[in-house]
Amino acid sequence: MKTVQATRYVTPLREGGSLPAVVEADDDGLYVLKFRGAGQGPKALVAELVAGELARALELPMPELVLVELDSEFARTEPDPEIQDLIRASEGLNLGIDYLPGALNYDPAAMPVDAELASRIVWFDAFVSNVDRTARNPNLMVWHRKPWLIDHGAALYFHHDWDSAGTACERPFVLIRDHVLLPFATRIGEVDAAMAAALTDALIERIVAAIPDGWLQDETAFADGPAHRKAYVDYLKRRRDARAGFVQEAIRAHAAHV
Ligand SMILES: Nc1ncnc2c1ncn2[C@@H]1O[C@H](COP(=O)(O)OP(=O)(O)OP(=O)(O)O)[C@@H](O)[C@H]1O
Ligand SMILES: [Mg+2]
Repeated sequence: MKTVQATRYVTPLREGGSLPAVVEADDDGLYVLKFRGAGQGPKALVAELVAGELARALELPMPELVLVELDSEFARTEPDPEIQDLIRASEGLNLGIDYLPGALNYDPAAMPVDAELASRIVWFDAFVSNVDRTARNPNLMVWHRKPWLIDHGAALYFHHDWDSAGTACERPFVLIRDHVLLPFATRIGEVDAAMAAALTDALIERIVAAIPDGWLQDETAFADGPAHRKAYVDYLKRRRDARAGFVQEAIRAHAAHV
């Protein structure tokens, strides 16, 4: 992942609960910025980074992610005090998602997704326990007539309760029944082997290593940073290896749906 410096606050995205914003950066790119200092806390950024990078590695349609450096200067030209506070609380590294200009919110009635892609997305969301891909809140954008994944801040919810993470990795993801693409996902069993094979140990380790130190500091369950990172790595490897549970649950939920 590359690191860029934010140069201009362009506009808030009022729709988003965490007050994300479109910012311009010193590489001339526009990014949707997720602030480390937002109410959801830094774990939402950890989930965005880990799930988003996993999605990209699995070759799902996911915009590029970058780390965005914010300095105190950035707050000075911002008139809104709420946004000023958010910027001040977020100095240092934040998460940026490549802005998709002109993208529209996804509507399943207007655009069916092909069975293979829908099945791969359902598999992925069950793997990362993403509760935010429902018909009411699909967190899919349509851009150049293709669906794109956004908003993984609520994924990996095991990291809010590390005491039970050791057993949570083996649990099926029952909320997959509410997944917006489940009706199209007729090939979950067929895509399973390739999805799991793409999640190599080296990939998982590389992605967890990319989490900035400053996003891991609020958690008190671990003696140090390396132990904290190892817990993420262990969880993700064990969940991959124990995937039969969530895969069978997703296949069952699809069958119950049709
Ligand atoms: N990469 C992007 N390109 C274009 N628009 C985007 C992008 N990411 C997000 N948006 C727009 O911003 C809105 C809010 O983004 P997102 O869902 O990631 O934020 P959030 O604060 O986690 O939202 P919520 O918790 O309300 O679901 C999206 O619904 C979408 O309209
Ligand atoms: Mg959202």
